[in-house]
Amino acid sequence: MVRILVAEDDDIMRITVVDHLRLHGWMTDEVLNGTAALLMMKETNYDIVLSDIRMPEMGGEQLLAEVKKTSPGTEVILMTAHGNTDDAVNCLKKGAADYILKPFNLDDLTFRIQRLINIQAIKARCASLETCFGQRQPLIGSSAPMQRLLSLISQVSQTSSTVLIQGESGTGKELVAAAIHYESQRADNPYIRVNCAAIPAGLLESELFGHEKGAFTGADQLSIGKFELANQGTILLDEIGDMPLELQVKLLRVLQEQEIERVGGKAPISVDVRILCSTAKDLSVEVENGTFRKDLFYRLQVIPITVPPLRERHGDITELTDYFLKQFGEERGLAFKLSSEALQVLNDYPFPGNVRELRNVLERMSVLAPAPLIQLWDLPVEIRGGKTDHPKDETPTTLAVAVSAAEKKCILNALKKTAGNKTEAAEILGISRKNLWEKMKQYQL
Ligand SMILES: Nc1ncnc2c1ncn2[C@@H]1O[C@H](COP(=O)(O)OP(=O)(O)OP(=O)(O)O)[C@@H](O)[C@H]1O
Ligand SMILES: [Mg+2]
Repeated sequence: MVRILVAEDDDIMRITVVDHLRLHGWMTDEVLNGTAALLMMKETNYDIVLSDIRMPEMGGEQLLAEVKKTSPGTEVILMTAHGNTDDAVNCLKKGAADYILKPFNLDDLTFRIQRLINIQAIKARCASLETCFGQRQPLIGSSAPMQRLLSLISQVSQTSSTVLIQGESGTGKELVAAAIHYESQRADNPYIRVNCAAIPAGLLESELFGHEKGAFTGADQLSIGKFELANQGTILLDEIGDMPLELQVKLLRVLQEQEIERVGGKAPISVDVRILCSTAKDLSVEVENGTFRKDLFYRLQVIPITVPPLRERHGDITELTDYFLKQFGEERGLAFKLSSEALQVLNDYPFPGNVRELRNVLERMSVLAPAPLIQLWDLPVEIRGGKTDHPKDETPTTLAVAVSAAEKKCILNALKKTAGNKTEAAEILGISRKNLWEKMKQYQL
């Protein structure tokens, strides 16, 4: 629900605007000056403040300054009379999103507001994507191997050397790469990730280096490659082990010359890019097999980093579990906890899929576990092995079937206890002899 605050001392103007915005479906409040607007903002988070510039007590310009200080996400649009354009432009310089000259067309106003709302939505989306891409996530874990890794990351961040990050799948190589970039002096410049395995070999060159218009069929526009986009920043060549041989030669040239050439380009373009590479493959084996160039391999591993598998960093499992459960719990508004037996089993499991596997398991449990306290039997069977049986493992059934099974078991118990004496059994069961007889027939006892 979009919330708008209108600050305007002219009654007719204010009422007209407010009515129009409400008709449009936006929740709209109104005040007569800046002081009142600030009071309202203490109670409600507004997406947009629409304010007159000249008002008694506190005008639009001062209100703008206060809003930017206390609620930077709120956008301010100013309304001003013809002749005061200078004031309005001045406000734009101080952070107002837009201004509109009175008298205005109401449709023009809604158009401007809608445009701002769209921009706000895009900003929010970008912020959430940034976290989804795992670019700024913390590296959790304080085991000894993890501490060594973190201190290596800090050292490496201070240089611009090429780094080769190796490690099993799911160990967190991408997080390590992002940490190197965000700890380095390039942190405010672009961080670009290219997955060499996901892009078809034929497209990878133009993806990395760009192409000139007309370079090949379908190249109807100039396209800037990832290396140029990453200028002054860092590029991560993820899954480098899957880079085709002919492109490996070109990458070697980039490393040697600090220059790239667009596909179909006439002249090299110099770039200042820090290169990080990562792979789950053992590149020395790829070199022996002839699928990876030896010279490139040596150039890439100026600084080699190996991310240890999860099974070699015990202690981290508990920490990661707490971290992920908190994260998934926040998404669902629940406070998940793991029973101590369940935590022990997680700690004993070798996690061939490493942190990714642990994260996936916990995410699945946060969706499927019946209660916030996750028990041993809630863990997937491949992790807990045959360690425990729980009614939960029975295939789900209807209530009627479950009740019948329980009834049958109860009757059998009573008959056993009374050595088949139906009268006594009926008494124990609290039913009539006839009723017992009918049920025995029903269950073929
Ligand atoms: N130390 C860690 N702290 C928090 N989350 C982690 C950690 N290590 C890995 N993860 C999470 O585990 C998942 C896998 O990590 P990532 O994608 O970096 O693995 P990878 O080594 O690149 O694997 P692959 O070789 O399969 O690409 C991601 O969701 C990541 O956020
Ligand atoms: Mg990866």
